[in-house]
Amino acid sequence: MIELTKPAVRPANPRFSSGPCSKRPGHSLEFLKQAFLGRSHRAAEGKARLKRAIDRTAEILGVPEDYRVAIVPASDTGAMEMALWSLLGQRGVDILAWESFGKGWASDIFKQLKLDDARVLEADYGALPDLASVDFARDVVFTWNGTTSGVRVPDGDWIAADREGLTICDATSAAFAQRLDWPKLDVTTFSWQKALGGEAAHGMLVLSPRAVERLESYTPPWPLPKIFRLTKDGKLMDGVFRGETINTPSMLCTEDWLDALGWAESVGGIDGLIARADANAGVIADWVGRTGWAAFLAEAPDIRSNTSVCVKIVDPAVTALGAEARLAFVKSMAALLEGEKAAYDITAHRDAPPGLRIWAGATVETSDMEALMPWLDWAFEAAKAELAKAA
Ligand SMILES: Cc1ncc(COP(=O)(O)O)c(C=O)c1O
Repeated sequence: MIELTKPAVRPANPRFSSGPCSKRPGHSLEFLKQAFLGRSHRAAEGKARLKRAIDRTAEILGVPEDYRVAIVPASDTGAMEMALWSLLGQRGVDILAWESFGKGWASDIFKQLKLDDARVLEADYGALPDLASVDFARDVVFTWNGTTSGVRVPDGDWIAADREGLTICDATSAAFAQRLDWPKLDVTTFSWQKALGGEAAHGMLVLSPRAVERLESYTPPWPLPKIFRLTKDGKLMDGVFRGETINTPSMLCTEDWLDALGWAESVGGIDGLIARADANAGVIADWVGRTGWAAFLAEAPDIRSNTSVCVKIVDPAVTALGAEARLAFVKSMAALLEGEKAAYDITAHRDAPPGLRIWAGATVETSDMEALMPWLDWAFEAAKAELAKAA
């Protein structure tokens, strides 16, 4: 190993994973001692806590009064698949896919639901598909923030206000860090494990009145597992949206979510959360501006994520390598950073081009992000020195 001078300061918290994401600053299991454990989630207090989790989530996110919010099984994947299976098939669908998760929803729709009238609008890692060519007479499925490419939609202005179809939005790495345009969203999903650092396995589903109207007026031709069912005898199962979950939730995870929401309120609610994520992403942008070896994967600043920030390596010694060697280089950088307890889990997603992905959401302290930057340069130089030695 070639010795290079290591930065003097390490991030106090080296957790920059894009999911599960870092817990909120000051998180402690002590706060979970009051969890409603060993009791039925259908007892009055259990239901009250689940309802509180729903109500406070809606309040912080600014969800309109006439929308419905539920806690659902199987995290964001569960919430999205519940929506796709329950709502699609009534009309054609446009799917926007510009990274791994959008492609996954397209695969569900083509290969599992086997919809005939489905169209994918695609773009490569780093870009967005042409938003102007989306047809809002059809249903539209998209990801607000593509976690694996660090590319997000700039806003909701491209979505027709007078659409005939429904918009179904996977917002799991956008919620609590980016401003969601609620009137433009009919179905919105996210998981607890992302931007507020909650626990895995629980998801949330937000429905507009138009989505509810579709649920109550349309029955899909395929079978629906119990875990996906939101209606009974053609009527919305109201209780699900008041905390009477479809199956048994974890009251420990619920308590942790309530704790995360309390912290979110303490930093100024949605405005404070967005400001924190923006500040973190700004630290990375400043660093990218001064470093010679890294560049954003996202091509344009207005589509650049402030949560899952993805950078590629543009140093000629690395770009000249084959795909496998490039991946090995990035992995060796990540291993060096992990060994130094400077950063955990920052290699790009396995489906994305080799690079780094740094979570910049609100639970990350800006001082930690600042401390991380010199370590990235150190790891790059150390990995490059190893590469030169091996050559
Ligand atoms: C955009 C997006 N969609 C879906 C998922 C899957 O989420 P979960 O594992 O919480 O179901 C993720 C997880 O990283 C994601 O980033």
